[in-house]
Amino acid sequence: MVNKYEHIWRFTVVVVVACCRWKVVVGQQQPRQASAIWVMGDSLVDNGNNNFLRSVARSDYYPYGCDYYRGPTGRFSNGRTFSDILGDWLGVPAPPPFSDPRTAGNRILGGVNYASAAGGILDQSGQHYGDRYPLNQQILNFETTLGQLRTMMSPANLTQFLLNSIVVMVFGSNDYINNYLLPTLYPTRNLYTPEAFANLLLSRYARQVHTLYSLGLRKFFLPGVGPLGCIPNQLATGQAPPGRCVDSVNQMLGPFNEGLKRLVGQFNGGSHPGAMFVYGNTYGVFGDILNNPARYGFTVRDRACCGVGRNLGQITCLPLATPCFIRDQYVFWDAFHPSQAANAVLAQRAYSGSTTDSFPINVQQLAQIKL
Ligand SMILES: *[C@@H]1O[C@H](CO)[C@@H](O)[C@H](O)[C@H]1NC(C)=O
Repeated sequence: MVNKYEHIWRFTVVVVVACCRWKVVVGQQQPRQASAIWVMGDSLVDNGNNNFLRSVARSDYYPYGCDYYRGPTGRFSNGRTFSDILGDWLGVPAPPPFSDPRTAGNRILGGVNYASAAGGILDQSGQHYGDRYPLNQQILNFETTLGQLRTMMSPANLTQFLLNSIVVMVFGSNDYINNYLLPTLYPTRNLYTPEAFANLLLSRYARQVHTLYSLGLRKFFLPGVGPLGCIPNQLATGQAPPGRCVDSVNQMLGPFNEGLKRLVGQFNGGSHPGAMFVYGNTYGVFGDILNNPARYGFTVRDRACCGVGRNLGQITCLPLATPCFIRDQYVFWDAFHPSQAANAVLAQRAYSGSTTDSFPINVQQLAQIKL
């Protein structure tokens, strides 16, 4: 009899632990706060678009997705991405990838994900990886979706539907890592100072965000770039002293992030009536994680959980590689991408953080605001 009870007790413990883990990472299931989410960006939020493209930048193999309930899906994470978890907080299920032929009909009514690994603000960024959807193409793909939506609802209903939806745009990292910081492959470093390059990116970005406004979108979340000088791939270049980040790379990003925040201020200041733009301080939040890892339960911040070479950051996580065991203790999943646990911190701070984390309001307030 004792053995029998012990068996039941053990079973219960396993279930409870599994549930708690899930809850901590995924957040609570929230009531729906937006009609749809449109995700644009790069591999930080790609959820399978590159699976359908001729690209080396792909992650549709194990161990990517080893902590995801559907296994490898093309997410560049061991589990959920930033936009997946932000969607959980907003009560909107992860929208399907645009390039999947099944993304049609009723499936587009909660939004669509256009993000593409290696894609940047500039068309040429990331081109050495092969095909990808840069910002310009992602906007054209959104227009394709709009055409489908027009056949599904009245113009008045579509206007309302877009008004109550949120667009999340995660861009900029590839314009640095896979363009400006690779002067042997791309000419930009020799043509532009860091300030001039940031201005180039921002002028293109401003124009395309404006295009999305003209198409009817009204709620924008625009995170800046994180401290790229601290990712295992940059540490693996050997340019940083032990225990430090590549400061020159981090400093380069200042003009882009500051400019993006300024742009958000301008767009909110009367040039785009009836809309709200929010800047996400990815750099600050990620910096906080790296400076205070223990506060978030991290023990490893300078090495990828899965990868090859110095800092496990020289080559990305390869098919059938063995990842680290306690993945929630790693800030970085692979050479370039945060772990699911780090994505959860970023998403939570974007959703409900202070005005330092999300400016001028957070994503929760963005969802609730009546325009
Ligand atoms: C528009 O929305 C109203 C209210 O939600 C709904 O009753 C109506 O069927 C919709 N019309 C179309 C054409 O989608």
